[in-house]
Parts: sequence; C-alpha cells; structure tokens
Amino acid sequence: MKAAVVTRFDQAPQYRSFDLPADHRPHEEVVSVVAAGLHPRVRSQADGSHYTSTDSLPLVPGIDGVGRTAAGELRYFVLPDTRLGSMAELTVIDRRRSIPLPAGADPVRIAAAMNPAMSSWVALRRRIAFAPGQNVLVLGATGSAGRLAVAVARMLGAGRVTAAGRGAERLAGLGADATAALDGPADALAEAGRDIDVVLDYLWGEPTAAALRAIVPGRPDDERPLTWVQLGSAAGLESPIPSAALRATRLQIVGSGQGSVPTREIVTELGELAEAVARDAFALETRAVPLVDVESAWAEARTSAERLVLMP
Ligand SMILES: NC(=O)c1ccc[n+]([C@@H]2O[C@H](COP(=O)([O-])OP(=O)(O)OC[C@H]3O[C@@H](n4cnc5c(N)ncnc54)[C@H](OP(=O)(O)O)[C@@H]3O)[C@@H](O)[C@H]2O)c1
Repeated sequence: MKAAVVTRFDQAPQYRSFDLPADHRPHEEVVSVVAAGLHPRVRSQADGSHYTSTDSLPLVPGIDGVGRTAAGELRYFVLPDTRLGSMAELTVIDRRRSIPLPAGADPVRIAAAMNPAMSSWVALRRRIAFAPGQNVLVLGATGSAGRLAVAVARMLGAGRVTAAGRGAERLAGLGADATAALDGPADALAEAGRDIDVVLDYLWGEPTAAALRAIVPGRPDDERPLTWVQLGSAAGLESPIPSAALRATRLQIVGSGQGSVPTREIVTELGELAEAVARDAFALETRAVPLVDVESAWAEARTSAERLVLMP
C-alpha cells in the first residue's frame, strides 16, 4: 500500500510503498484511512523530537484520523505509539481507542479538530479539578489548539476567558472576554492575570517564564490558587521558571497530555468532543490535501494558519 514514509528524521516524509503488518492483536482491525490531521504532534513524531519517540525507522506518521472499517462504518481513532501511523491508505486501529463518527460529521473537520480541541478539553475535564465559573487564560491562543481552548473553556463553563498571544488583531477575533498581547504593552499580562484561576499554556520556553514574572507579583490575593497547565511547547521545550513564582503564590504547575492522563480517560471523552466538533462548535480553518502531496504539505504546514488534513 502507499503511505507517507519517514526514512530520516531530518527529511519530510515521502509518498512510497509500506507493508501492512501481517499479524494483528485482539481488538485490532484494518481500516481504510479517510483523513489524517497534520498536527504539530505529528511533525514532532516525524522528526524524532517528541518525548515518545523511539528512534525506530522507517515509520508512517499520524497519531489519529478517520477510517472506514470493512463493514463500511466511519470511525475516529487515536493510535498507540506505533510505526504504522494514520498517513497511509490502510492502518491498524484498536477498536477500543475509536468511536463511530457522529451522524453526518465531516471526516476532514473531525480529523483536523479533534487533536487540538482534545488538549484543553481533557485538561479541564480530566487533569485538574476545574470548576465552572473559574477564570481561564490561554497562553498561545492564536494557534489551532489555543483558539479551540478559548471555545472549549467557555463551553465547559469558565467564567472570564482571556486570550494571550502575539498579535492584538488576531487575538481580538477569537471570541474571548479579554485579550493580552504578548508583543504589546508590558503590563497587559499582569492585568489579565490578576484573578485568573487556570492557565492553559501552549507555549512554554521564554514566554512562559515571562508570563509568570508578569502575573505572579501582580496578583492581589496570594492565597488564590493558580493552576498552570503545561500543554504544548510551541515556543520552547524548556523554560527557565522563576523559583520565586512557586513560593510567592499558591501556584501549581501540571502537565496534561499522553501519559499524564490515562488513555482510557482520554477515550472516554472522545464521543462528546466529536459531537461538539461535528456540530461546528469550534471554528478552525482546515484544508484537505491528497496524501500523494505529503512532501509539499509538510513544508506548507510549517507556516500555514490552516490545519492540513491528508487524504489517501
Ligand atoms: N498536550 C496535548 O494534549 C496537546 C494536544 C494538541 C497540541 N499540543 C501542543 O500544543 C502546542 C500548540 O499546538 P497548536 O496545534 O496550537 O500549534 P500551532 O497551530 O502551530 O500554533 C502554535 C502557536 O504558537 C505560537 N508561538 C510560537 N512561538 C511563540 C512565541 N515565541 N511567542 C508567542 N507565541 C508563539 C504561534 O504564534 P504566531 O502565530 O504568532 O507565530 C502559534 O499561534 C504544540 O506544542 C502541540 O504539540 C498538545
């Protein structure tokens, strides 16, 4: 079968032949892939930089997607760590990590939005004790996951939702109650952080350290808990966290993602999230690209504001 195949971590995947494994375990099933999202997580899988990478090559990238079963049913699936990902004509899914697509759902929309939407959804529902009415700040709100986090926080009952990121104009279009431009006036973040309860952080790196330096000293109530959820590393894999931030206020930093939330809990959330994506609750620009064009899609995805979806 044809697939996007990574043979070197310093090269984009190429469209070529790849063998489907002959043996399958219980619960596994071969599906024809209909759509697979090109998420940042997939890029880090393909360049070997993700924390789950085993350095084994060749591999087919893709961590989730929509597939058609032999019985003709469309299912959204998430894959385990595997060398046969979703960017192939066929892949092997574990039925227990998949759900039937909601009636009438667009496979491209589902493949594009489930991964970025899942980050904030799972964090708020499964990783922390989030209570309706709490104020949420999204750090890195202009990215796909960040903009969906604004909508997810609102849907899950947040009080005030603040969008923080680069570009005041882009932030203004995200539907948040307030915005804080990281490239704007220095006190914007301090002001926004005064009565925040939860930060959903997609950036890490220097922007996270700068945000802590801005927010922590400006909080009028040191005893008000501040839960900082580390979700992504769009600005850096490591961050020089100021030690005083952890002593000066009731700050708690936790991560949310594959490993820190059990897979069975993530899977439990898929159905409700897919319903929300299917009824168009989240605005996300998406573009479908034929799998044969995977190399050019890889280059485009680096700068595109759209979430690309590969279709065999
Ligand atoms: N934990 C999870 O469950 C989970 C799930 C999905 C995604 N993620 C992770 O979350 C992160 C974001 O994903 P995404 O899908 O939103 O990616 P994306 O669509 O590529 O967006 C990345 C965003 O990061 C911003 N950014 C990069 N460097 C920055 C800097 N120095 N200062 C301020 N903003 C900066 C970009 O802003 P500009 O537009 O201004 O460049 C862009 O808005 C990735 O690391 C991804 O792997 C985690």
